[in-house]
Amino acid sequence: MTSPAPEVPWWIDAVVYQVYPRSFADSDGDGVGDLRGVASRLDHLERLGVDVIWLSPVYRSPHDDNGYDISDYRAIDPSFGTLEDFDVLLADVHARGMRLVMDLVVNHTSDEHPWFVESRSSTDNPKRDWYWWRPARDGIAPGEPGAEPTNWGSFFSGSAWQLDERTGEYYLHLFSRKQPDLNWEHPEVRRAVHEMMRWWLDRGVDGFRMDVINFISKDVGADGSLTDGIVVDGALYGDGRPSYVCGPRIHEFLHEMHREVVAGRPDRILTVGEMPEVTVEDAILFTDPERHEVDMVFQFEHVGLDHGAAKWDVHPLRLTDLKASFGRWQAGLASVGWNSLYWDNHDQPRIVSRFGDDGEYRERSATMLATVLHLHRGTPYVYQGEELGMTNAHFERIDQYRDIESVNFYAEALEHGLGLPAALLEALRAVSRDNARTPVQWDASANAGFTTGTPWIEVNPNYTEINAAAQQEDPGSVFHHYRRLIELRHTEPVVSLGDFTMLLAEDDAVYAFLRRWDGIELLVLGNFTSQVRPVDVPDAHRWAEAELLLGNAGDPTPVPGGRIPALRPWESRIYRRAVPQVVDG
Ligand code: NOJ
Repeated sequence: MTSPAPEVPWWIDAVVYQVYPRSFADSDGDGVGDLRGVASRLDHLERLGVDVIWLSPVYRSPHDDNGYDISDYRAIDPSFGTLEDFDVLLADVHARGMRLVMDLVVNHTSDEHPWFVESRSSTDNPKRDWYWWRPARDGIAPGEPGAEPTNWGSFFSGSAWQLDERTGEYYLHLFSRKQPDLNWEHPEVRRAVHEMMRWWLDRGVDGFRMDVINFISKDVGADGSLTDGIVVDGALYGDGRPSYVCGPRIHEFLHEMHREVVAGRPDRILTVGEMPEVTVEDAILFTDPERHEVDMVFQFEHVGLDHGAAKWDVHPLRLTDLKASFGRWQAGLASVGWNSLYWDNHDQPRIVSRFGDDGEYRERSATMLATVLHLHRGTPYVYQGEELGMTNAHFERIDQYRDIESVNFYAEALEHGLGLPAALLEALRAVSRDNARTPVQWDASANAGFTTGTPWIEVNPNYTEINAAAQQEDPGSVFHHYRRLIELRHTEPVVSLGDFTMLLAEDDAVYAFLRRWDGIELLVLGNFTSQVRPVDVPDAHRWAEAELLLGNAGDPTPVPGGRIPALRPWESRIYRRAVPQVVDG
């Protein structure tokens, strides 16, 4: 059994709720969610019982990537409100006993950030090296095809390099061309970021979610060179990831950030690093408390299991893959480090449409998925609307999409003949980030109660049926199931502290595992299909007298012979029993 660390941090049994402010609640009728809108809905979050709110970026931004392109780290974007609105919100969150974590986007800034405006102004500007500037490739004129300093593609289509006519050099942007990458090799960049982080902590925020933080260290040669990536069959660009995913100085940079910003503060803050491509072995290093880097990471393995070579090649999930992946992460971080647990966020399609059934079994599958996730060891994250079982957008036309990644992918694929419009739209319907970005469905009034104006992105028409107001009244709703799961984490120490044992690794329908702590054992079951499925766990008779702590389909009909009743479609159950303690000596 795993022992708790000598000093257990407050977040060990916490649940975090992500607010994507643009789509959460609009207070002033301009169609865009804002800080006063968030403040107006805190009752909902308090009722749900979450401990922490993670606020996606609200800083000043040209909104090329919905705020992940920041032009002033110390100002609130006018579309979201003012610093005063922010302080009022923060005080209210604290008064309700919750905490607030900010998004920290420092792999890149906006091209409209004064640092970049200065940097691009001339080759000898003091801030020139704050970003990655490189001349055209030897022997090719700037602007000619192939002149880019490396062959890397950007995550948002096209090359990762943009020619700047003023100085005739290229700058690096792993995301949009309005998101130039900061050069973390430069000590002044790091100092400026640390100072800005301290400024927010001094204002009272409780931590940071760090955007693509494992991309900040680039593998740069002593002569300043960056290396071309491999171009796989059918790809338009080289894969630059080996040059910047968990680069050579990443641990040094995060340790330094911890020392300069986090260490020695009177209140324990929460840091979570978003880390695409991170492995279990990396994550152990990043989250080992002795190393003082971050508290936990967002890994991406489980949300890539239904992807082919690219994220747009979607195929159905094999449950055994999900178990193998989660099982490895649970085992890897069992004694050192810590997991974060998530299905949804603003970059992922809605889980009930993805791994569940958003038709006939929407509520059952949404609650089963929640149960399985929340009973793992780690810190669960709930993304706005997930607690209502909100579904994918099911958009039909390209003009309904707003997300830069989706819109650019469609245009580039069409331009290069990589797919027919119908197939591309099908891919977007399955994986576009806009699936998660339709407005939160508060009630059955116009625009789901999100805005009195015209929403910046269409509201899902199913809001008349799926909405918070209806679910709060209904004890059997997805909302109340999430509420109970969160309560369980707060009241049953085995949920946060217990060890984890995966069962039935080869079963392609039933997800089953055990949690154990201090004389208490839980058996968690989830049926990932629309059929009735038997539960063949070892020693099933031990569970004959166990208490059914939480189910999503009412009490099952008992079966004779000490067997566990079969699971109905998408059913989940949590059983609890006391286990005899072995006394040493
Ligand atoms: C990850 C964020 O979650 C995503 O929304 C954003 O587009 C990229 N990082 C770039 O900041």
